[in-house]
Amino acid sequence: MPGPDAARAAAILADIGPLLPALASPALVVDLAAVDHNIAAVLRRCHGATAGPSSGRTDGSSGSERWRPHVKTLKSAALVRRLWAAGVTRCKCATLDELQMLLDAAAEDGREDSLDVLLAYPLHEAAFHAAVALAGAHPAARVQLLADSPEHALALDAWAARAGLARPLDLHLDVDLGMGRTGSPPPVWRDSVARLAALSRCRVAGLHGYDGHLAWSQTNEAAAAYDLLCDLAAAFACIGTDLELVTSGTHSFLAALAHPRLAAGPWRHRISPGTVVLSDLRSHPAAEALGLRQAAWVLARVVSRGPDRVTLDAGSKAIAPDRPAPNCRLPAWPGLVPLKPSEEHLPLRREHGAIPDHGAPVLLVPDHVCTTVNLYRECLLLRPGSSPVRAPIGAQGHRLFLASEGSPA
Ligand SMILES: Cc1ncc(COP(=O)(O)O)c(C=O)c1O
Repeated sequence: MPGPDAARAAAILADIGPLLPALASPALVVDLAAVDHNIAAVLRRCHGATAGPSSGRTDGSSGSERWRPHVKTLKSAALVRRLWAAGVTRCKCATLDELQMLLDAAAEDGREDSLDVLLAYPLHEAAFHAAVALAGAHPAARVQLLADSPEHALALDAWAARAGLARPLDLHLDVDLGMGRTGSPPPVWRDSVARLAALSRCRVAGLHGYDGHLAWSQTNEAAAAYDLLCDLAAAFACIGTDLELVTSGTHSFLAALAHPRLAAGPWRHRISPGTVVLSDLRSHPAAEALGLRQAAWVLARVVSRGPDRVTLDAGSKAIAPDRPAPNCRLPAWPGLVPLKPSEEHLPLRREHGAIPDHGAPVLLVPDHVCTTVNLYRECLLLRPGSSPVRAPIGAQGHRLFLASEGSPA
């Protein structure tokens, strides 16, 4: 099977080397050199597309203009800072915890004025007030919100009035391009242009067309969906704002970069893949197309051993179980097949070859890295040329946001 190989796993284990006797498992290990490599690979592809003959745009950027990565994969200030260091200052997030992590990190670095976050999740009223409180503490940062339907946009407008916001709130309209998860279909938005142009506290800043239902190979379906989005954007031209069109995650972003109308319209198109920064098994087509490296690994150890079976300390609370077994792979032990995990145990069936000793460290590649990162409160960062450090996964899980008590502690 293609993907991260045994040599790469051995190199990562060697980098952790001196720490191994003291490092308990399971542990999330992130290779920063691979993170930087992956970010550069996406930027190169964006740059090629941005500067392509059909785009008509020569923004002089290194591709960062075209990318609004989703940080649900990273959840950590240390990793978001790698994006910032590469000039990628726009991003998307899904949770209040992610928004807080981004705003706090930007404040710590004195760079709030260059942060532009789209909270790409349809907020109910309590979550809206929590988001506004977080954003209000960092007025120099740009925080944009998502409207699920014209009625939701009107509700957001009313909530913004009630909150007494000092400046207009930028909204992206969530366009359902066939995924059937959130948002409204293009005709519903088109019929509401006049109502949306008359919002008093909110401003239509973008159209959000996330196409997570499409697989890498569905390029024709993707092109048809992007055409619908471009048609809708043309209908919103009368509103007069410089519209942003946000599409595509790790499973479709090349199709979006290749779509001539998205690149050439009187709007700014941006893709929003996030998994590409860390990579995982399910993003294999993108990894192959861009030459991505596996950046996130789970260190586990053998805790039990039978004749044709070993069990690792990496159950469903160490590798996310939201994918069917096998939900991970061991590049250095191709003869061992992961079975269904229990909470703290991952049994492996020996199909061929040797099995590792009791206590032996092994590295796992998760099938789905985003939900796996979310299981860890800290990770070990491997840094080229210097010793590893620990870094918090600040946006792990969900904190309690309770407006009547003010900001969460
Ligand atoms: C709204 C939204 N945008 C972008 C993405 C892209 O993420 P990924 O790169 O993991 O495909 C996702 C993934 O779930 C998403 O829900």
